[in-house]
Amino acid sequence: MFEYKINKDLSLRLVHVLDSEEVYQLIDESRAHLKKWLTWVDLIKSVRDCRYSALKAMDQYAENNGFQCNIIYSGKIVGRIGLHGINWGDKSTSIGYWLGKKYVGRGIMTTCCDGLLKLVFNQLKLNKVYIYVDEKNTKSRAIPKRLNFKEVSIKNNAQIFTGSYVKHVRYIMTRERYFQPY
Ligand SMILES: CC(C)(COP(=O)(O)OP(=O)(O)OC[C@H]1O[C@@H](n2cnc3c(N)ncnc32)[C@H](O)[C@@H]1OP(=O)(O)O)[C@@H](O)C(=O)NCCC(=O)NCCS
Repeated sequence: MFEYKINKDLSLRLVHVLDSEEVYQLIDESRAHLKKWLTWVDLIKSVRDCRYSALKAMDQYAENNGFQCNIIYSGKIVGRIGLHGINWGDKSTSIGYWLGKKYVGRGIMTTCCDGLLKLVFNQLKLNKVYIYVDEKNTKSRAIPKRLNFKEVSIKNNAQIFTGSYVKHVRYIMTRERYFQPY
């Protein structure tokens, strides 16, 4: 189980079944906040569901197809960030993330996202990282903007969410863009 230190307070720890109880508590106390933007929240009804999703995440890592990490802030699990999968053909991936409600507004996710970019470019040697965000999700859109991602497209009817189609904005960070000075 790897743990990737970002700074003295923050690290990313590979998802493990042993963390499922703490993760469930975090999701359960943040349901309304998460449900606004994420489709899976109602599927997590018990610690058992978190264990099942952790097992799937561990399989993903074992298959060398990306990974999911719990975000550890001052010793507690406060959210999650991960890669949805890896396209080894064109060396690209996309990032997904969420934070427990009480941890929003402290810069945690922007810092984690930047740390994950370093890992993806330096260790996995990938060349492109995407973030897809609901057009209306301003807090999430602010993260790629802060990190100098480039907005490349808007996809209409990208997903059916709570009964209606939503638009997704696609952001890209390339290796060249990340390592060149702003
Ligand atoms: C999307 C989400 C992770 C964003 O959380 P967030 O706390 O706004 O993002 P950060 O942790 O990067 O914090 C940024 C905020 O902290 C502030 N901040 C404080 N210190 C900071 C620092 N060192 N660096 C950056 N921002 C800092 C920023 O000003 C910003 O506050 P603002 O929104 O009032 O301007 C969160 O809203 C969430 O979990 N939403 C539900 C799930 C979701 O939408 N997931 C994404 C699907 S695409």
